[in-house]
Amino acid sequence: MANQPSFFIGNIPINNDLILAPMDGVTDLPFRGLCRKLGSGLTVTEFINTLDVLTDHPRYRKRLQYEPYHRPLSLQILGDEAQQILLAAQQLVPEVRPDIIDINLGCQSKNVTSRGAGAALMKTPEKIAAIFSLMTKHFDIPITGKIRLGWDEDQLNYLDVAKIIEDNGGAMVTVHGRTRQQAYRGQARWDPIREIKQALTIPVIGNGDVVTVADIQRIKTETGCDAVMIGRAAVGNPWIFSRMDRADVPVQKVHQTIVQHLDEMVRFYGARGVITFRKYLKAYLQPYEISYDVMQTLLRSKNPDEVKALLAAWLT
Ligand SMILES: Cc1cc2nc3c(=O)[nH]c(=O)nc-3n(C[C@H](O)[C@H](O)[C@H](O)COP(=O)(O)O)c2cc1C
Repeated sequence: MANQPSFFIGNIPINNDLILAPMDGVTDLPFRGLCRKLGSGLTVTEFINTLDVLTDHPRYRKRLQYEPYHRPLSLQILGDEAQQILLAAQQLVPEVRPDIIDINLGCQSKNVTSRGAGAALMKTPEKIAAIFSLMTKHFDIPITGKIRLGWDEDQLNYLDVAKIIEDNGGAMVTVHGRTRQQAYRGQARWDPIREIKQALTIPVIGNGDVVTVADIQRIKTETGCDAVMIGRAAVGNPWIFSRMDRADVPVQKVHQTIVQHLDEMVRFYGARGVITFRKYLKAYLQPYEISYDVMQTLLRSKNPDEVKALLAAWLT
């Protein structure tokens, strides 16, 4: 039926089964807004580091911003221990008023895992139990977790961790089908996502290497997951959230979106927005044959009007 939610996270209705993955340095406010408009069913912030919150480091504030239409909003917290995560959340929730809090159990970067946070938490399941039991006791909004398959091939404890999250009041689990050791190498495995889905009653979101509309269907069929999270493929193809493959997006649509996205970047970041935009621009233009010189000018320009003029000449 039209307007029927796709699924629920706790009591929060989610209207699409495709969700933009949180990506540090990528899924900023302009990109989250764009993907939400194109259909992403939920807005998840880039991870918010508890240490930044507790020391009031200025860098995290911009990551928390959102527009009303971005809701439902999930605030992702990265920390290494229950009490510290609770303290940070108690500071953030009254100010940000998220609909959901997500706990990062998957970040693979060394400076995160060396302090026991992100994917390193999967090595200490007792800490995960403590985090979820404490957080669900203190907040009446859903608390969710985003996991990997485990630390490495010898510690594939995804099923135990997913159950711990459910048993301690967690409302949903997102699974990136790789170990921490794999980082982003190799192919994501989806079989474990099916195992988790079969073992839990809370919603399970499948994630990892979903690039095309056919992949969406395939991961859903193979795993039975309630929704699909898409990260890297959305850069360059945010239309994936409208179930469109990149090759099917008309060039006029691409052109119009690039201009809007660039304008949003300049609005959000000021002059440096043009520079921060380059990674998206490169991805948007990847399918086209644009001469090396023009591409270099586009990717070096600090002037939004120059970028727009060149695009108008080349994307017609
Ligand atoms: C640049 C980058 C930054 C990321 N930052 C986060 C993050 O802040 N929080 C998180 O849970 N996962 C993060 N991830 C992992 C993604 O959410 C996702 O699980 C992963 O990219 C696999 O999905 P994909 O194959 O669709 O990209 C990041 C991934 C990338 C590539």
